Amino acid sequence: MSRPVPVCLEDLSAAAASLLPADVWGYVAGGAGDESTVHLNTEALRAIRLVPRVLADVSRRSTRGELLRDSCALPVAIAPMAYQKLLHPDGENAMARAAKRAGVPFVLPMLSSVALEEVAAVGGALWLQLYWLRDRGQTRELIQRAEAAGVGALMLTADMPVMGRRLRDLRCGFSLPDHIHAANFGAEQNAAARERHEGNSAIAGHTALTFDPSLNWSDVEWLRAQTSLPLVVKGILHPQDATRAAEVGADAVVVSNHGGRQLDRSVAGTAVLPRVRDAVGDRCTVLFDGGIRSGSDILCALALGADAVLVGRPALWALAVGAEEAVAEALELLRAELDTAMAITGCRTVGDARALTVLGPLPCQYQVSTAAPAVIPPPTAASSTRSPRSKGRSSCAACSVSGIDAATVLPSRGAVKTTLARSIPARSANVSISLVLAWWRTNRPMSSSRSPHSSSTSPVSLSSTESA
Ligand SMILES: Cc1cc2nc3c(=O)[nH]c(=O)nc-3n(C[C@H](O)[C@H](O)[C@H](O)COP(=O)(O)O)c2cc1C
Repeated sequence: MSRPVPVCLEDLSAAAASLLPADVWGYVAGGAGDESTVHLNTEALRAIRLVPRVLADVSRRSTRGELLRDSCALPVAIAPMAYQKLLHPDGENAMARAAKRAGVPFVLPMLSSVALEEVAAVGGALWLQLYWLRDRGQTRELIQRAEAAGVGALMLTADMPVMGRRLRDLRCGFSLPDHIHAANFGAEQNAAARERHEGNSAIAGHTALTFDPSLNWSDVEWLRAQTSLPLVVKGILHPQDATRAAEVGADAVVVSNHGGRQLDRSVAGTAVLPRVRDAVGDRCTVLFDGGIRSGSDILCALALGADAVLVGRPALWALAVGAEEAVAEALELLRAELDTAMAITGCRTVGDARALTVLGPLPCQYQVSTAAPAVIPPPTAASSTRSPRSKGRSSCAACSVSGIDAATVLPSRGAVKTTLARSIPARSANVSISLVLAWWRTNRPMSSSRSPHSSSTSPVSLSSTESA
């Protein structure tokens, strides 16, 4: 029976949900705790608005670019997602073939249900994702296997010292069926992932046994020393962690909250992406994931400072619906949507997207106590120097998006003193300040703009005292 032609990626979601067993759908769709972060990711992206530029002669345009030494047809890679045979018997092989057809890298999860060498034989750009194993010898062995198989980059997932509490998996006692296993590992290591107990997730049990929660920056340095392959650190949300990753030699960071699967009160990546971009400047490639569902989402992520995005769940929906063919179609949809959005916003190249003006609601404010150092300090004069990549941005792109550069909330018995320091293009300062104040008074989301066409910035501070 022929399947309906999807005209957007969301069409695939409903189709996949109707095809998959309830526990597998729960494993794919679910997230940590109340899943508020899962929803926040898509909502936060949709709240980002672009200001189109016109009369830019977009008759010739290209979505092509280069990503960690690989040339790609669009600024997209397929995110690492474990156990893809749960979705379709061809699993990671189908995903790799579709990625190859679309000309984008496929990030093979360490917990793939097809062995790395078999997937590498498909050809195309293949990167390998790593979790931090308790057995370092096993990690070394995996790296050697990856190098021998022609893998193009290693991606260390840093945001899973322990697995988030995924309630759907706990409720159904999620475990792997007998025919699916982590194909890069032996039978013994796989046993825990099959032990079904009500109220427990077997994959969480497996994670607790095999992943090492002591993972820290010296381990990243160790990993860096093991290989000359490009190294990507995934799961970065704090600009200081991004800076540290660049310092220890990472070639790229992924701004990601693991698709809301780890911390149910995590910030959305969109709220911190501009800060991460500014923190690493040109030292690192910046990737973004979490909620990418359309070409316009990709364009928003680029405008916020990303070089490229990872596509997560939609690739799994497509895999479930129609294996290689459907994943290739989904990637083609993304390409067509991105191309259309680029044309309408006056972008001829992916690079042009970075100069787009972005409007958005206020993202998170950073809360600190009087005693503690600021979680994210406001940019200093030194950190506000512009890199070629951030050329045309204000000194901190996040504040231009958000209207707020840093907010310091100082609890003091019954009163909360709030200090907002803001750095905005001089020309729009007055308008933007009124907008910030308007928001602050009404507590409604507001819009403010940063203009890539303004060349100067002027820091402005606002203070107010409110009752707690
Ligand atoms: C079913 C599933 C399995 C995943 N497995 C992994 C994994 O093995 N390693 C990893 O780093 N991230 C994993 N992720 C997270 C994705 O790489 C990515 O960060 C996330 O899916 C992005 O959010 P989105 O799918 O909502 O766009 C997984 C996500 C899903 C949905």
